[in-house]
Amino acid sequence: MTSANRYSASWEGFWSTVSGASGEIFWDADPAHAAQQDLKLFHDHADSRLPLIDLGCGNGTQTRFLANHFARVIGTEISPAALDIARTKNAAANISYRILDVLCPDDAQSLHEEVGDANLYMRGVLHQLSPVDQATAIESIARLLGATGTLYLIELSSAAESYLTKLIKQNGQPLGLARVFQHGITPGRLDENDLAALFPPDRFSLLHTGNSYIHTVHTLPTGAVAQVPAFYAVLRKRIH
Ligand SMILES: C[S@@+](CC[C@H](N)C(=O)[O-])C[C@H]1O[C@@H](n2cnc3c(N)ncnc32)[C@H](O)[C@@H]1O
Repeated sequence: MTSANRYSASWEGFWSTVSGASGEIFWDADPAHAAQQDLKLFHDHADSRLPLIDLGCGNGTQTRFLANHFARVIGTEISPAALDIARTKNAAANISYRILDVLCPDDAQSLHEEVGDANLYMRGVLHQLSPVDQATAIESIARLLGATGTLYLIELSSAAESYLTKLIKQNGQPLGLARVFQHGITPGRLDENDLAALFPPDRFSLLHTGNSYIHTVHTLPTGAVAQVPAFYAVLRKRIH
């Protein structure tokens, strides 16, 4: 089985068994606490005349929010079941959803030929991939950006593992995380220290980076929602 098929089977299993139970999609935060925080960090860097592609958009919760701020939004996924939910629950006149495996740079190239340069939003996708696959995903990203697109990514940071270990020790495993592991989804390794290796400065300009949080739907005993330490980066392709 190729690595692409491995991700596809695990994620399709995850998305096709979503029941609507509270907390079952760990990262499915209200966009007021997720995409809105992200938008503030990249909107001014991005040419809003370009389409925005939400790479690995899941059920489209953040995609629909982003569609309030960009004229044309395309949500892309490896999982047909995720797109079924997105099309049902998060449709808007300026959003289209489609299959795109980020590990297929030739398919990314075809999408670029169709829509031209694009801005990219990527939340919690790269760290799910193995290091070799991360490099392939970045090739797809480069093709989609073209000369003028801007990428915003937010991924778990080096502080995430200890945060999650402590959370599980103190409160037990959240339902949303248990479902991830049940479906054989295992995080690869990626944090803020890998940025320069993944996006080499001779190919990409790093416009902005810093610490952030991935907001979740898991309520802690304090009543607050778990926020997993993360980092963000705003990047563009360097034009020689
Ligand atoms: C942690 S979820 C984040 C979903 C969404 N970005 C959000 O913030 O709600 C990761 C998503 O990446 C998708 N994904 C995993 N591997 C992929 C691939 N090779 N190509 C495209 N999407 C992929 C999964 O199906 C899943 O929906």
